Amino acid sequence: MTAELPLPVQVVDTMEQIDGRHPGYRRAHARGACFTGTFTPTGEAAKYTTAAHLTGGPVPVTVRYSNGSGNPAVPDTQPGGRGMATRFHLADGSVTDVIGVNLPRFLVATPEQFLDLVRALAADKAAGKGDQAHLQGFLAAHPDSVPAFQALGLMGIPASFGTTAYRALHAFVWVNADGDQQAVRYRWAPVLGEQNLTADQAVNEDQQFLVGEFVSRLAEGPVSFTLHATLADPSDPTNDATKVWPDDRPEIEVGTLTLTGEVEDQDHWAAQIFDPTNLTAGIELSDDPLPRLRHSAYSVSYDRRSQGE
Ligand code: HEM
Repeated sequence: MTAELPLPVQVVDTMEQIDGRHPGYRRAHARGACFTGTFTPTGEAAKYTTAAHLTGGPVPVTVRYSNGSGNPAVPDTQPGGRGMATRFHLADGSVTDVIGVNLPRFLVATPEQFLDLVRALAADKAAGKGDQAHLQGFLAAHPDSVPAFQALGLMGIPASFGTTAYRALHAFVWVNADGDQQAVRYRWAPVLGEQNLTADQAVNEDQQFLVGEFVSRLAEGPVSFTLHATLADPSDPTNDATKVWPDDRPEIEVGTLTLTGEVEDQDHWAAQIFDPTNLTAGIELSDDPLPRLRHSAYSVSYDRRSQGE
């Protein structure tokens, strides 16, 4: 009898069935590029967390923007996931990451649901009929996933990585100098505002315009995002990223990220791994089970791509 593979391996194997296996590429968010800049905290977060990069002086950052698919050939002229993975370089030489996407909520709440979802998507693809019978079956069994799929269906075509809002979706727990805990969710807001392409504009764009657009934009001047943290009420769910918190929760402005240009070595940065569990003192994981799955799945993907698989 063959032992069952660990769940993160099953997840990545199934993701490869959906988007194909593209040697050397990430199994999600395959195409992207990295940029350099600075994050400057406002100081507002200091009441809630001791995290150095959110409370002290400016810190250098590296940001990887990406398309959501594991297929690096997917065109930018289609709606879909776009990612912003931010690495903060702390003064003590350590690093910490915040990883966001352009979705208001996540598709599932648990690792098992994620495996069921990717299996349904893979089965629809294998059936090859163009219908979504397995996905519809999944949604019927998991009604909490329906709002995220509705949001996906309404997604536009981002005009620029710099005109898209990104959310980290999971709750993280801030800890202050007194040991008090506060659950938060992060949102990056583009200072340029959110802009999508119209269908007509998309027809005239190069299929892979996003990186070139951003490089040209940076040549004209820096591009900024403000980082916001929504503060949870103790009654808000922290273990379920399919559920948004009520609109009236307080939000603080944590700081401003200003990007100035491309990293010097794109190949070096393409090979790195950004990880939502890569935290620092003053920030802890919540009881959301997904970041731990993501940590393992990202390692599986990293091992494969770094071996040229
Ligand atoms: C259980 C759910 C998830 C699974 C299994 C999963 C899986 C993956 C995998 C395998 C990679 C490639 C990792 C690598 O090779 O470095 C990846 C990358 C990525 N994921 Fe996820 N993901 C999940 C949820 C999420 C969520 C909730 C977000 C956003 C909040 C997200 C955003 C991203 C981004 C932006 C990248 C690219 C990171 C980079 O630029 O290096 N993912 N994901």
